[in-house]
Amino acid sequence: MEIRDGLTFDDVLLVPKYSDISSRSQTDLGTRLSRNIRLNIPFVSANMDTVTESSMAVAMARAGGIGIIHRFLTIAEQAGEVLKVKRSGSVVIESPYTIPPDRTVGGALAYAAEKGVSGLLVAGPDGRLAGIITERDLLFADHAGRVADVMTRDVVTARPGVSAEEAKRLMHEHRIEKLPITDGTGQIRGLVTSKDITNAADYPDASKDGKGRPLVGAAVGVRGDFLERSEALLGAGADVLVVDIAHGHSENELGTVRSIKKAFPDCELIAGNIATAAGAEDLIRAGVDAVKVGVGSGSICITRVVTGSGVPQLTAVMDCAAACRDHGVPLISDGGTRTSGDATKALAAGASSVMLGGMLGGTDESPGTVLTKNGKRFKVYRGMASLAASIGRKAKEGAAPPPDADLNDYVAEGVEAMVPHKGSVTDIIKQLAGGLRSGLSYCGAHTIPQMQENAEFIKMSRAGFAESQPHDVSVV
Ligand code: IMP
Repeated sequence: MEIRDGLTFDDVLLVPKYSDISSRSQTDLGTRLSRNIRLNIPFVSANMDTVTESSMAVAMARAGGIGIIHRFLTIAEQAGEVLKVKRSGSVVIESPYTIPPDRTVGGALAYAAEKGVSGLLVAGPDGRLAGIITERDLLFADHAGRVADVMTRDVVTARPGVSAEEAKRLMHEHRIEKLPITDGTGQIRGLVTSKDITNAADYPDASKDGKGRPLVGAAVGVRGDFLERSEALLGAGADVLVVDIAHGHSENELGTVRSIKKAFPDCELIAGNIATAAGAEDLIRAGVDAVKVGVGSGSICITRVVTGSGVPQLTAVMDCAAACRDHGVPLISDGGTRTSGDATKALAAGASSVMLGGMLGGTDESPGTVLTKNGKRFKVYRGMASLAASIGRKAKEGAAPPPDADLNDYVAEGVEAMVPHKGSVTDIIKQLAGGLRSGLSYCGAHTIPQMQENAEFIKMSRAGFAESQPHDVSVV
């Protein structure tokens, strides 16, 4: 049997090339996530329960990337997360949340909190706008009182099709933050909020759909309810679905891809994870719009330890990229990215984007609370195939393992870990994007595709690796 070499990020460096770039701003990080989706930066937050729910996905889209909502939620919860992302950034919210006038103030507060909004439109039984309640109306109101008694009745409205400029003018003129859209008969047709208008100006690089709303993806599995889940996610506005299982080059996965594409022919579909050209070919033949590459490379992954299987990430990307290029299908490098240098190498090797788990796990936007240990702040980051995640999942599905269950029945392929609390994901993404822009410049490239053409890798020895780190100094 012939044994090939497999390489990963720390085995290689990119050879510097002549560059005419004098400022990072001359580089363009635009890329393709999948056949039909473009991003302004090549970063994707991982579909893991300690990484991506709506607040991470909103931050990723604002930065120009995308987040993939994990699938370890009920269908309604996952679709709800997608909806929250979509609502967070559209200038006109098409179906604003409403409440009847006879509801109690306490009920209105609970409903607003559940939906994560600061105000509600009040709709009469005929669906016409009866009033509006905002934080100010509710602040000191008696919780047992009726919405009708505290709402503002004299509401400034605009007609469907109002421009952002006109909405801004009206909101300024009347010193209001919410502008309902009604038709000639008073039926509610939408809502413009001042926050959404400022967001549009504050995040010029944001990745948006055709209606100006943030892009968002959502993961599905290969068992049970995946078609029902896909339908709900697409209905909520997900721009792309990701069929995500540990061994994506499998009949289970290929069958799922075919079924989803058959049921929803227009659905943009990513599938993974794979690590070989044969895996990429089979997924592409089954109809995917991008492949996700990485088996055993994740920071919390023990697949290689437990099963002996995997391919070092750089080789996996290069092998799959060769197959993807022939079909014009983008490739996402997933797992093992610890620095902007790793991301640059993955992209230079042929990936169009990079999925990040551990790098984003400890941020303000990742799900979970901040823990303090020995005066330092941490968050939990865990593999989706870790014991804790598997048991948590079963408990959520109403099948909690009995107290005397034999834990040896679970064979974990991931670990649960603590990562330092890192603050806002926006700052991490800025650092990554800045490092990548410099990386492009070292390759003499203005764009990611140019870098892929120019890239020349050189293998390094252990001594070369040691030389690449800060050495012979005490780092302050
Ligand atoms: P990281 O960016 O190196 O932390 O890797 C994140 C990636 O690890 C995810 O996007 C998944 O592809 C993968 N992953 C997540 N959970 C597990 C697990 O439990 N076992 C193996 N791989 C995992």
